[in-house]
Amino acid sequence: MNFANEKNITIFEHPLIQHKITMLRDKATGTNEFRKLIGEIATLEGFIALEDLPMKEIEVETPIEKCMSPVIAGRKLAIVPILRAGLGMVEGILSLVPTAKVGHIGMYRDEETHLPQEYYCKLPNPIDERTIVVVDPMLATGGSAVDAINQIKKYGGKTIKFMCIIAAPEGLEKLHKEHPDVQIYVGHLDRELNENAYICPGLGDAGDRIFGTK
Ligand code: PRP
Ligand code: URA
Repeated sequence: MNFANEKNITIFEHPLIQHKITMLRDKATGTNEFRKLIGEIATLEGFIALEDLPMKEIEVETPIEKCMSPVIAGRKLAIVPILRAGLGMVEGILSLVPTAKVGHIGMYRDEETHLPQEYYCKLPNPIDERTIVVVDPMLATGGSAVDAINQIKKYGGKTIKFMCIIAAPEGLEKLHKEHPDVQIYVGHLDRELNENAYICPGLGDAGDRIFGTK
């Protein structure tokens, strides 16, 4: 599949994002720095991913005169991290839109089958009127993202974006096929999955590296 021709897929090439992803990949990068980088990349990706937020004009008085000027319309954004690793991206987006609501979807991959197991779901109400940004640093087989978005749609979510930092071609294709309406943002498209469904070259286990677990 040639992802470059898909209008609902954005693969970032910005030097700042690529530089920070290289730092993330380095196994010598410790928890503190890793967490910081995940947040910074989320901010950089979010800046582009949110460029179509609805706007309205309000009147403002400058020191010179009154004018109409645009602001973001309403408090309509929801950020939904896929636990645990997605949590690392939340603050980075909140730094752009501090009034956004935050939902949570808990998923872990079964170590044998690599299939996602859902253990938690709490979304802001009403969900159907919001632009929902689902965040997870890793899109590997795509199972977790597809299930999380199925769940959000079941609750009524309609306008959904998915933001990740590293994707495998397998996962990107699956997510786009199952949810062609979802706008997908990818920091870097890696080569492939290995036999344990880890992304190669990837960065290892994102959740463990963010939270310092093994
Ligand atoms: C990781 C990652 C994604 C998922 C991606 O989570 O954060 O949620 O794997 O894999 P997939 O595309 O094959 O579903 P993990 O299951 O390791 O849970 P954790 O975030 O709690 O560590
Ligand atoms: N989850 C991760 O954290 N890393 C991978 O490479 C694949 C899934």
